[in-house]
Amino acid sequence: MPLILETIVTTLSAEGALHLVPFGLIRGDGADGKETYVLAPFRPSPTIENLGANPCFAASSPRDIRVIAGAVTGRRDWSTEPCQTIPGRRLADSFGHAEFEVVAVEEDAQRPRYHGRIRHLAAHAPFIGYNRAQAAVLEAAVLSTRLHMLEPAKVLSEMSYLAIAIAKTAGPREREAWGWIEDKVAAALGPEARILDREDRGTRQERAE
Ligand SMILES: Cc1cc2nc3c(=O)[nH]c(=O)nc-3n(C[C@H](O)[C@H](O)[C@H](O)COP(=O)(O)O)c2cc1C
Repeated sequence: MPLILETIVTTLSAEGALHLVPFGLIRGDGADGKETYVLAPFRPSPTIENLGANPCFAASSPRDIRVIAGAVTGRRDWSTEPCQTIPGRRLADSFGHAEFEVVAVEEDAQRPRYHGRIRHLAAHAPFIGYNRAQAAVLEAAVLSTRLHMLEPAKVLSEMSYLAIAIAKTAGPREREAWGWIEDKVAAALGPEARILDREDRGTRQERAE
């Protein structure tokens, strides 16, 4: 399996409107042996439309995991800054970001692949360590974009497992992000998806007994 980096990708529409969504960038080798990263959006996709109009994108690593959970639950108004080498903007509060020019496109009816060559790479904040709750929010965010593809029982069992890391290690931002994902999954699959709510209620009940 190639390395896949989970990032916040920003693209510009023909009219100059910014589109901000999470994507996994797949590391690959360009024809000349230079490293490329492949962006592979499923159709239909505003990102695909935007890349047709402006064949470049920025990829940022968010410091606040709510950006990833927010972007897949209708909260896309996060602060951005202008890119250095391409038209467009990148997420402001990020550990780092890369700016890409699309150098090749593999057309596909379902999932075209855009090969990006790095034009600019920058670090913005020190990265000291991983956090389990952030990783759990990231995984739950991915699940929440695949509700139409996955069995409800699988989604619920994965959410139950991920909730353990949230209960043990989340700060207020991760709790809030988890709540947004639970709301989305519960809207599709029902109240069974409110795992932490249920656990909290269970704990309160245990204390009362
Ligand atoms: C961490 C993460 C990685 C994702 N990676 C992809 C991906 O590689 N391809 C894709 O089509 N959707 C991916 N998604 C789902 C998209 O973010 C979501 O469907 C988004 O709306 C697609 O962008 P669009 O609005 O331009 O179509 C990912 C979601 C998350 C949370």
